[in-house]
Formats: sequence, C-alpha cells, structure tokens
Amino acid sequence: MAERPLDLHGRPLGVLRLSLTARCNLACPYCCPDVEDPPELLTLPERLALVEATVGLGVHTLRLTGGEPLLHRRLEELIAALQPLRQREPNDPRGALREIALTSNGVLLGAERARQLKAAGLDRITLSLDGTDGASVARMAGLGGAAAGGAVLEKVLAAIQHAREAGFDPARGQLKLNAVITRSGNADQLLPLAELARQQGLELRLIEFMDVGNRNGWAPEQVLPAAEMVARIGATWPLEPVGRSPHGTASRWRYRDRDGLHLAVVASITAPFCGDCNRLRITADGVAYSCLFAGNGTDLRPWLRPRLEPAELRDALEGLWRARRDRWSEERQEAADQRPAPAEMAYLGG
Ligand code: GTP
Ligand code: 5AD
Ligand code: SF4
Repeated sequence: MAERPLDLHGRPLGVLRLSLTARCNLACPYCCPDVEDPPELLTLPERLALVEATVGLGVHTLRLTGGEPLLHRRLEELIAALQPLRQREPNDPRGALREIALTSNGVLLGAERARQLKAAGLDRITLSLDGTDGASVARMAGLGGAAAGGAVLEKVLAAIQHAREAGFDPARGQLKLNAVITRSGNADQLLPLAELARQQGLELRLIEFMDVGNRNGWAPEQVLPAAEMVARIGATWPLEPVGRSPHGTASRWRYRDRDGLHLAVVASITAPFCGDCNRLRITADGVAYSCLFAGNGTDLRPWLRPRLEPAELRDALEGLWRARRDRWSEERQEAADQRPAPAEMAYLGG
C-alpha cells in the first residue's frame, strides 16, 4: 500500500465507522432518543467513494452503524457493492478491506434479512440487548412497558437464531452481543445476560455507560465500572484476563469452565483506550469525525458533490487524519471544562 498516514499521536487509520442513518426504531435513553436524519443523506455511490478513499489510507475494517442500520433499505446493496474492495489482495497498493461488520439492535433482523446480509458479503454482526426480561428491556430501550419490552426481547432472541442459521458463527467472532450497563437501569441484568450469552455461546460485551452526546442524562454515579462487572460475573463463573487486542475497544476475559468462550468489557470511562485508537467516523450525511467525542466534524460533501473528486477527497481525509490529536476519553478527567459539545451518538454511530 502507498504510505499510510499517522495522526499526531502516531496512530494509523484502521477502522471506518460509517453511519447509514441517524434514525432508530428504539429510543434507548442512554443513547439519544428521537434523533431525526439530517436533510440530505449520502447516496450509495458517495458512500462507496468514501470507503474506497479511506481504504487507500489504511482502513481494513468497515463497521456499518446508525441509528439503526437495518432501517436503511439499500444496506445489502452497499455491502455487495463493496465486495471488490474486500476481494483485493492484502498487499494491494490501493489497500484492501478485510472485513465488513454491522452493529444493530436486531429488531429488524428476520430470517430472510439475515440470509440477504450474509449473501451480500457481510462478515460480522454485533447485536445489542440490555436485559433478559420484558421490563428491563423496556426500561433500557425507552419503551412503554414490559409487554413492549418482551416483544423486542423475542425479536432479538429470534435475530440471534436467524443470524446463526444464516452462517454468522459466534465461535469465529462473527456474532456477538453488546449490552450497555447503567447502575440504576440494568445492573441487575449482568448475571442473566451472562447466562443467556453462555447458553447461546456468544461473546457478551458489557459496555460502560459513556458521556456521549448532550442528552442521555449521563452522570458519573450511573457508570458501573468494568472491574465491578467482571468481579460480579467472575464470582459465579470464574474468569481469566486475556487483554485487549491492539486497536480494539474491548478487553476480554476467558471463562475457566468454557473452552473458547469469552466475556468482554468496553471500559471507555474507567480504562480509556485512546492510545491506539484507529477509528474514523463518517455520519449519514458525510461529516467525518476523528473521535466519538469530537465537537466538530469535517464536511466531506464538497469533494463528493456536485462531482466526485477522488484525489481531493483522499487528500482531505488524509489531512484530517494527519491533524488528529483526539484522546478525549483519556482527557476526560484533566480537561472536562475544555471539552467541545459532542455530537449525538445516533448521528456518530457509536
Ligand atoms: P469489534 O470490531 O467487534 O471490536 O466492535 P467495536 O467494539 O469496535 O464496535 P461496537 O459497535 O460493537 O461498539 C461497542 C461499544 O464501543 C459502543 O458503545 C461504542 O460506542 C464503543 N466504541 C466503539 N469505538 C469507540 C471508540 O473509538 N471510542 C470510544 N470511547 N468508544 C468506542
Ligand atoms: N454509552 C455506551 N454505549 C452506548 N451505545 C449507545 N449509547 C451508548 C452510551 N451512552 C451503544 C449501543 C450499541 C453501540 C453502537 O453503542 O448500545 O451497542
Ligand atoms: Fe478514539 Fe476518541 Fe474513543 Fe479515544 S475517545 S478511543 S480517541 S474515539
């Protein structure tokens, strides 16, 4: 590959998180309920051009996010159209995409949709589930009551099954479960969620409640520290630390009684992982953010419209990455007062 740019902390670009829509069919209060899409979303050819440009700068993993990405009708078409980038040789001088992943709440993942995503060339799915009973799911998803929560729970459990049957193999890291944990919302769901994930043979990723956006009611006392989550689960099912893989978000733990099965924690608050952060985010309307907590983005549309300017687009992205100095999670303590007003989670895609 041509020279890969490094940012001001010497970090390479490796992951593109591309949000397809800010809209969502749930209203989780810890995220940012009721976000509307910006007026003009990118087109499919524009998104392809963005992925191609970032692949040329080092991106090997594309994560499709939202809002809820399954609300995007042309999701499968996009994944299929990206396959030529995925089929390039790893040492192709233009760069190559190694994998395409999806983060979804699973509500819309029926059997047919799961098959279509697999057929289009999706490699991995991470589904979100924050509880194992109707009342807990309703509370965490911002739904009316236990019956509505129960209906969502049924759909997500079915989605796990559909994804598995479509060929997403949890044993190969192709199907995982995310759960955001808040102290007063669902801390009591830790063991039930771990039990469910163990029964299903899924890696459960317990996520510390993050202060992202401006309207999720974040308060430090609502954060359940990852160490406490691990201690609580480890008291029932003993765990051994595995560590965090380079550039990863999650620290993993091995279940002593289950070969090959892991628990993971994303400890952005108590153990930030900015030091080797290789992620760039692009919103559904084409604004690039070099950090989940960055106040300002770079609007990429001038290089996409009215005409695609591939070389200029690449230069703009490269310039953005080379100028990047974000390490907002690590600076949370020291620079709270200097922090820019962050954009909302559903807009940024997590
Ligand atoms: P894998 O590729 O499977 O490791 O997924 P991932 O953890 O990178 O992505 P996912 O969408 O599953 O996100 C899990 C949690 O990590 C979510 O709460 C994200 O908001 C959060 N997250 C992802 N990337 C970052 C990051 O760069 N910084 C911070 N602070 N949080 C992140
Ligand atoms: N803190 C941590 N994780 C969050 N997510 C949404 N909002 C927050 C938050 N405030 C998670 C979603 C999904 C992923 C993209 O981000 O539950 O798993
Ligand atoms: Fe990367 Fe910003 Fe998250 Fe730190 S806070 S890991 S720099 S996205």
